[in-house]
Amino acid sequence: MKIAIIGYGKMGKEIEQVALDRGHEILLKLDVSNIRNVKKEDLQDIDVAVEFSNPESAFSNINLCFDHNIPIVSGTTGWLDKFNETVQRCKREQKTFFYASNYSIGVNLFFKLNSYLAKMMNKFSAYDVHVEETHHTQKLDAPSGTAITLTEELLNSLDRKKNWEKEAASNSDSIAVMSFREGKVPGNHKVTYESSFDKLMIEHNAKSRKGFALGAVLAAEFIVGKTGYFSMNDMLKI
Ligand SMILES: NC(=O)c1ccc[n+]([C@@H]2O[C@H](COP(=O)([O-])OP(=O)(O)OC[C@H]3O[C@@H](n4cnc5c(N)ncnc54)[C@H](O)[C@@H]3O)[C@@H](O)[C@H]2O)c1
Repeated sequence: MKIAIIGYGKMGKEIEQVALDRGHEILLKLDVSNIRNVKKEDLQDIDVAVEFSNPESAFSNINLCFDHNIPIVSGTTGWLDKFNETVQRCKREQKTFFYASNYSIGVNLFFKLNSYLAKMMNKFSAYDVHVEETHHTQKLDAPSGTAITLTEELLNSLDRKKNWEKEAASNSDSIAVMSFREGKVPGNHKVTYESSFDKLMIEHNAKSRKGFALGAVLAAEFIVGKTGYFSMNDMLKI
């Protein structure tokens, strides 16, 4: 495949490496320095774009790809107020869009486990739940997109919880989502249930960015030739 990388930062560079290792070609690298100068001719041979930029630019980058009929895989977090609008345009105009707040296969198994455990916990109201995430100090958004996905799944599955709050829960209907920023941590997430007698935790710790990059390149391979909106559930069938 001929790939355009949009956002050539830490993730963009990992994706380049994984894509080259899997026999793909990187035809274009767009970053804050050159994206405004991109021309129609630069985009015409691209099979798929992989976008990991920042919360301010993801929406316009995805729309740029839609405008040029380029299938796009995005992993940028912190812009999801525009997510529904993006999916609607994708479906209405038959574009191709893949989104995951986390491309690691382990995290997607963790999402399923989280939802299963939350449903089980409906019977055990003595346990309160909270979510913690730790990332490197350069991360712009907090809580992480992955922590938000975990928390939304708790709200869907755990009847006694109605909303979430950053750092501390102000009442028993609410889930506290705590964010920590430390060194170079690629991404740790933990869901903890606690009663007065014990604590039960499920946890995922990424060892590097490679797992995210591989998931994104697999998603790019998956969407070429398809139209519509896709997520990790479509690709992994879990
Ligand atoms: N979904 C996942 O699995 C996953 C995993 C890791 C990181 N992320 C997310 O991916 C994003 C990027 O993470 P990172 O660690 O590579 O960050 P980074 O800061 O290292 O890289 C971001 C890059 O985007 C560039 N950029 C800024 N404005 C741009 C624009 N208008 N168009 C194109 N590029 C632009 C920046 O110059 C920078 O090079 C973040 O939102 C992060 O939370 C998602």
